[in-house]
Amino acid sequence: MSQISIFVGSVYGGAEDLAFTLAEEIKLNKHQAEVFLPGTVNDVKNASHILFVTSTTGAGDIPTELEALYLELKNQFPLLTDVPYGIITLGDSSYDDTFCGAGKKIDTLLQELQAKACLDRLEIDACEDFEPEEPALVWLNSFIKAL
Ligand SMILES: Cc1cc2nc3c(=O)[nH]c(=O)nc-3n(C[C@H](O)[C@H](O)[C@H](O)COP(=O)(O)O)c2cc1C
Repeated sequence: MSQISIFVGSVYGGAEDLAFTLAEEIKLNKHQAEVFLPGTVNDVKNASHILFVTSTTGAGDIPTELEALYLELKNQFPLLTDVPYGIITLGDSSYDDTFCGAGKKIDTLLQELQAKACLDRLEIDACEDFEPEEPALVWLNSFIKAL
């Protein structure tokens, strides 16, 4: 059984709703999940398995509260050597170059902190997927198997 800490960044609530749906699904699969909105550096340091679920705002930016955590992680730079992680990013491909930029930034930082990606980042495009739960639950199934 794994304990998965879910760190959330959301502006309008879509990523937050998705995070709680994923937490329920994780528990149905006999693992444990805790949702952080968005949590602290210590929460990240104490996590045995990390899942970021974030939308993208501005021009490829991380939602404000999660961005504060991201910047603290960047400043404090706690090594997360080999801690398994996954990232689900919500975005909109009509934003072209900044599509899912928040997830890309977080992915880069987690790699710098030496965490271990279990699975490629999932990018959900609001232009294509009106129900983000559908691709996210498929991805989560693979993520859980890869833990
Ligand atoms: C003001 C604004 C800026 C956005 N900027 C981007 C962006 O740069 N890149 C992107 O992929 N999506 C962008 N989006 C799309 C959102 O990430 C997408 O709609 C997401 O599903 C919103 O999730 P939320 O309800 O958790 O905030 C933007 C949306 C808004 C309203």
